Amino acid sequence: METVAQDGGLVLRRREDDSLELRANGVFVMDTVETSTERALASRALALHPAPRRVLVGGLGLGFTLEAVLADPRVEHATVVELEPALVGWMRDGTIPHGPSLLADPRVHVEVADVAVALRDSPPAAYDVVVLDVDNGPSYLVHDGNAGLYQAPLLREAARATAPDGRVVIWSASEEPALVAAMSTVFVEVEELSFPVDLQGRDERYWLFAGTTATS
Ligand SMILES: C[S@@+](CC[C@H](N)C(=O)[O-])C[C@H]1O[C@@H](n2cnc3c(N)ncnc32)[C@H](O)[C@@H]1O
Repeated sequence: METVAQDGGLVLRRREDDSLELRANGVFVMDTVETSTERALASRALALHPAPRRVLVGGLGLGFTLEAVLADPRVEHATVVELEPALVGWMRDGTIPHGPSLLADPRVHVEVADVAVALRDSPPAAYDVVVLDVDNGPSYLVHDGNAGLYQAPLLREAARATAPDGRVVIWSASEEPALVAAMSTVFVEVEELSFPVDLQGRDERYWLFAGTTATS
């Protein structure tokens, strides 16, 4: 395994099979091999909405959710909010090979910020769809500071930033009844989806939780 780039606790490594792996604070975040649920986060969220023109992507990662958002021609604006400036740099300079073309799409606007702050600061109804994949889920946090994103007060901010009949969809590495309960206090409908994934030979399931905002 070769270290391709490093910035503080954030490390990008290349495996012998040429795939990339991202770690933060020593914890596995994701790789470029099993990206089906990162893509499903976007495709499912967009499929649930009749006209998803404005999309917020919380967490750039290695860009697979963003790529799937941009594959939908109905999307006119994709705002990406990413905490780690180094990661945005590696996407822009080609350290992550598909990064430059992805970020060159004129529909993309990247903000280096905490998505919790971006949601609080957002004007109301700024987005049709919000997709959040900033951590491994509330039970397996990489950044303790992300705990609030899975709780009612910030979910309410996400709902406020989303237009009526919009969708807020959250990725998680595990089933999360407490998250579903919190989402149920904020959204008019909450849907749970789970997907089988192959993690280097190990069979696991990842989860998406989709909330629908109230009709105006
Ligand atoms: C699992 S990765 C996202 C993967 C992405 N869905 C993809 O397709 O590659 C999580 C990303 O969220 C970022 N992140 C973590 N906490 C954040 C926060 N509070 N606000 C914005 N980005 C955050 C991490 O730096 C990382 O890039």
